[in-house]
Amino acid sequence: MRVVQIGICGLGTVGSGVYEILKRNGGLISSRANCAIEVTHVGARRDHPNCDTQSTRVSRDVFDVAKDPDIDIVVELIGGTSVAFDLVMMSINNGKHVVTANKALIAENGAEIFAAAAQRGVTVAYEAAVAGGIPIIKVLREGLAGNQINWLAGIINGTSNFILSEMASKQREFADVLKEAQEKGYAEADPTFDIEGVDAAHKLAILASIAFAMPLNIEDIYMEGITQLQPCDVTYAADLGYVIKHLGVARQTTEGVELRVHPTLVPVSCLLAGVNDVLNAVMIHSDALGSSLFYGRGAGSEPTASSVIADIVDISRVIDNPPSTWVSALGCQLEALDAPKMVPMECVETCFYLRFAMRDTPGALSDATKILAETSISIEAIVQKEQPAGADFVDVIVVTDRVREAECKQAVSQIEALSTVHGSVVTIRLERLDD
Ligand code: HSE
Repeated sequence: MRVVQIGICGLGTVGSGVYEILKRNGGLISSRANCAIEVTHVGARRDHPNCDTQSTRVSRDVFDVAKDPDIDIVVELIGGTSVAFDLVMMSINNGKHVVTANKALIAENGAEIFAAAAQRGVTVAYEAAVAGGIPIIKVLREGLAGNQINWLAGIINGTSNFILSEMASKQREFADVLKEAQEKGYAEADPTFDIEGVDAAHKLAILASIAFAMPLNIEDIYMEGITQLQPCDVTYAADLGYVIKHLGVARQTTEGVELRVHPTLVPVSCLLAGVNDVLNAVMIHSDALGSSLFYGRGAGSEPTASSVIADIVDISRVIDNPPSTWVSALGCQLEALDAPKMVPMECVETCFYLRFAMRDTPGALSDATKILAETSISIEAIVQKEQPAGADFVDVIVVTDRVREAECKQAVSQIEALSTVHGSVVTIRLERLDD
């Protein structure tokens, strides 16, 4: 039997999961790959307490793995974009195939990495970079290869989803839930990446590059996190039949592709509304299949390792064939296609949830609705809450029909200028996801 030698760099949460699964399911995995897959070198600054590497060569310098002439596939699981980038580039230049779970690295440096890989005739596979254990890259690249993708919408940051789910179901405070997410190991080393939408934007950039054959472009993605969300909006949304989720949305329109990451109201009847806790899900609407939903664990040791191993198996199956025949060959080949244009955020059209505090005097509400009417914004629902005892203002909630971002902003600034309105208008986008 052929032997494919694997070098794992980074023995943290995911690295130890890969090591352990390859040990536990080694026979099964090797029979599926039609070759013996053996981890023969580990590069890690420190050992993992649950990982027995006694029978494997261990180097404290990860670059020793990239230099090891016997290694066929380098598995980069150290994270970040500095050492990881150098390691991946060295591995490629030394003729190694690379498997990585590093979304930031692929989203920010993918073009350079794929170009180097193509030139050297090796592949870089990154299934684990998006939605952890859900094989969403393979879904887009292989399963839906015959479809035009109309849109995709994903809950692709488990930490944000965990926080929103706890806020909605247990009325917990944001900071308290974030602390728990960090303790459970869901959050990134820098948790602002999770709660400010950066992690989701990295993943969306990767999904869009495959779905719409466009270059990886993190700079132009509109990004909003969940830090500004107020518990009352979670409650008001629920009263109106919606759940607030942090979504990454990529949509093909006649004007180009929209790419955006933001909190979004979704109808409670939408399958994505039922995706709770740290779970991820990606809904895809494509021309031949229609709607499909892919759901599962988006983080954690073995779920993420599951995707890493799928890539190792993919590469091991075909390692002796030319790269152009590989299912996982990717990225730079997209340059041959005309990249679609990105739609500027002010031209994006969605429904909106608006909340503002208004003095409860005759005519005040009609002044606000007149502004919406004059901006051609149709109201889907409107609720005025009862004035709490001792309060000077009442909360008014409006759900609009679809409207362009720029027009909504214009109406919002006019409403904020009304003498009866106090403070800013809370504005959250709303997607029905039904077509
Ligand atoms: N911090 C990420 C999340 C881990 O919360 O989804 C997986 O990428």
